[in-house]
Amino acid sequence: MEIQVSTQAWHEAEADWLVVGVTESPDLSGSFAALDASLGGSLSRLVEAGDLTGKLAELLPVLDAPGLSARRLLAVGLGKADELNGERFCKAMMTAVRSVASKKDRSLALALPESLSGLSTADAAAIAARAIVVGPVGQDSLKTEPGHHPLAAATVLTPVDGEADAKAGVTKGTIIGEAMNLTRNLVDLPPEMIYPESFAERASEAAAAAGVSCRVLGQSELEAEKMGSLLAVAQGSDRPPRVVIVEYKGGKADAPTLAIVGKGVTFDSGGLSLKTSEGMLTMKCDMAGAATALGATLAIARLGLPVNVTGYMGLVENMVSGNSYKLGDILTARNGVTIEVQNTDAEGRLVLADVLSYAVDNGADKIIDLATLTGACVVALGEDVTGVFSNNQDWADAVLSAAKTAGEDAWQLPMFDHYAELLKSDVADCRNIGGRWGGAITAAKFLEQFVGEKPWVHLDIAGPSFASSNKGHREGGSTACMVRTLIEVAATLG
Ligand code: BES
Ligand code: MN
Ligand code: ZN
Repeated sequence: MEIQVSTQAWHEAEADWLVVGVTESPDLSGSFAALDASLGGSLSRLVEAGDLTGKLAELLPVLDAPGLSARRLLAVGLGKADELNGERFCKAMMTAVRSVASKKDRSLALALPESLSGLSTADAAAIAARAIVVGPVGQDSLKTEPGHHPLAAATVLTPVDGEADAKAGVTKGTIIGEAMNLTRNLVDLPPEMIYPESFAERASEAAAAAGVSCRVLGQSELEAEKMGSLLAVAQGSDRPPRVVIVEYKGGKADAPTLAIVGKGVTFDSGGLSLKTSEGMLTMKCDMAGAATALGATLAIARLGLPVNVTGYMGLVENMVSGNSYKLGDILTARNGVTIEVQNTDAEGRLVLADVLSYAVDNGADKIIDLATLTGACVVALGEDVTGVFSNNQDWADAVLSAAKTAGEDAWQLPMFDHYAELLKSDVADCRNIGGRWGGAITAAKFLEQFVGEKPWVHLDIAGPSFASSNKGHREGGSTACMVRTLIEVAATLG
């Protein structure tokens, strides 16, 4: 389904639902007044009666709407006009689209709000398109009767003077929404369907469709690369590991390359340091970093941003078997650092260690890694905030500012030298866990050993990447968090 852009009057748009945003104490002028007139003044009466409040994301369906070409009207609250921003508009649009898509074969026409400060037509159109793409896709695709349905058709209504901006916004929002859905789908599918090989296949297909080159390293290539740390995690599984590299060269040949590195543990049982059943329940999500690296890199390519970006995904399954790596094992990472294993559940850092050092040696100039790395980060920042760690404040500031623009919550934690002391081992260069405290930071200090001198930001997405419940404005399961931030980083680099 391709989203159409139209300059039709709102009351002339044909669809099952006409979706119109309404602020608190709305200004009943312009298109809104014309719509009200077509409805014989019923909108202003609903406002007066207090039924149409305009509170953020509050829905008011008007099922009988004679005077409209659309069969029904869905008014969605935009909140206070002077508080409207991209995030709030997104929440309203997602709520409306998810409601429409809860029934089969529905079409919608979505009216962009007129003259709202704080939101350009292009941004509003991009957010609307993203909602139209993301909203109808649920985590319940394997139910016999899913609760979400593809839309039959979708049109974005824009004033004539905003048509070009709206078209550009819709194209951009569609690409971003599709990238988020790719990431979401990979995370939401069960671990029997998404394992290193099948992830790599899905990645190659998606890369080919986006015109991006893709390489897959298998067991013997990883051995040749001396990725002893990643391979140790993989060895307890019947599923062989993979490293996937997707490369997009949109910038000048001599321009710097951004490396996006993702943790791709397709299932984390904890290994011999076995998790509890409760702790393991959502561990299909432990490849969210890799799925995010893939989605973002392909979106950056499809948007044609003038930058060079390489995505690296380290894919393993952390399992229990007679061949599992053990506590007390000493691993030699690709860069020669020896690691004493003191907990097989601290496996993500072991996977990233080798992939980071590979990225450094393969032309990365700036690095961002993403990983569902530590429960400690969720304890520190809560479920909705990404932890930010870096060896370079300018680079951290660039990523933090991109997150702010994208409307994604991220917060930096310190990287003081003394945290590294906690990783000391009596028998190897380091051990793979710190002490009881500061676990998100000691994990980041561990990773720092593998990025050389390159500017590097580590994003711990253990909290925000996976939501435990469905909400009106977003589906539970994968959130595709940080996909938009990464695209924004690339946009500011170019
Ligand atoms: N994948 C987990 C971290 C995680 C926890 C992700 C909750 C998403 C939600 C990671 O591999 C892990 O097990 N980390 C351990 C580290 C510890 C053993 C030092 C943890 O956080 O407990
Ligand atoms: Mn683990
Ligand atoms: Zn893990």
